[in-house]
Amino acid sequence: MSTPILEARDISIRFGGVEALRRVSLQLMAGEVLALAGDNGAGKSTLIKILSGVYHADAGHLRFNGSPLQLRDPQDARAQGIETIYQDLALADNLDVGSNIFLGREPTRRQFGLQVIDRPRMAQVAREVLERLDIVIPERKLGGPVKMLSGGQRQAIAIGRAIYWNARVLIMDEPTAALGVPEQRKVMELIAALKAQGVSVILISHNLHDIFAIADRIVVLRRGEVAGERLVAGTNGDEIVHLIVGDTYASTNTRGSGH
Ligand SMILES: Nc1ncnc2c1ncn2[C@@H]1O[C@H](COP(=O)(O)OP(=O)(O)O)[C@@H](O)[C@H]1O
Ligand SMILES: [Mg+2]
Repeated sequence: MSTPILEARDISIRFGGVEALRRVSLQLMAGEVLALAGDNGAGKSTLIKILSGVYHADAGHLRFNGSPLQLRDPQDARAQGIETIYQDLALADNLDVGSNIFLGREPTRRQFGLQVIDRPRMAQVAREVLERLDIVIPERKLGGPVKMLSGGQRQAIAIGRAIYWNARVLIMDEPTAALGVPEQRKVMELIAALKAQGVSVILISHNLHDIFAIADRIVVLRRGEVAGERLVAGTNGDEIVHLIVGDTYASTNTRGSGH
């Protein structure tokens, strides 16, 4: 068996009286799209925050490419090639595309004896990244604030940023939740393109249709524990829903999907 690129072993964490995760283990293989499913409050976001250095587990440990992985903070995770895109994206709305790709990691050049931010290079990288993802943004909009762009374009910039910084693992928490249908489709295409480029992806989604369209494997969390793990090729929507809600769940559930 090959070594997982990223692995969590027996992770537990509590927030006050809430045991958000209890002995959760998960393996992400190289080039795999792994979907993380589960009802609201199941612990999905908490788990990926541990995998991306935001939270520290009370127990258990992480491994990256077969070696122990200690993450002090999200910068540590990024330095390892683990990039995370949260639902709120963390784009700087008033800055242009290039600035958002570099955000805090801007290239500089010497000009008149001074170190200045290399804006032409940033604009050039922005064009290249978008081209690589096959995203079309008119030149006049490239230099404007990203808040003028559509949700799908903004999502593409966040993905482009991760790619530019050589993500080996890309973690996405509900990347399509706020998008219209055509843009959701585009994000799914982007994930497929990343996979083709050898990037491993963890995708959190409430949308079983998306999961079945893009994922290789599904891990279901329920109340902070792993309820089950299935290959997409060997399961179906009914079985996954059953794992998500458990035996005790009433069939009259009418709660909408949230986050
Ligand atoms: N920072 C926090 N402080 C206190 N409780 C939290 C915190 N983050 C998550 N929780 C709790 O942990 C549980 C799992 O939450 P979360 O990981 O956000 O679930 P999901 O993403 O699957 O909806 C929930 O009961 C939630 O209220
Ligand atoms: Mg969540």
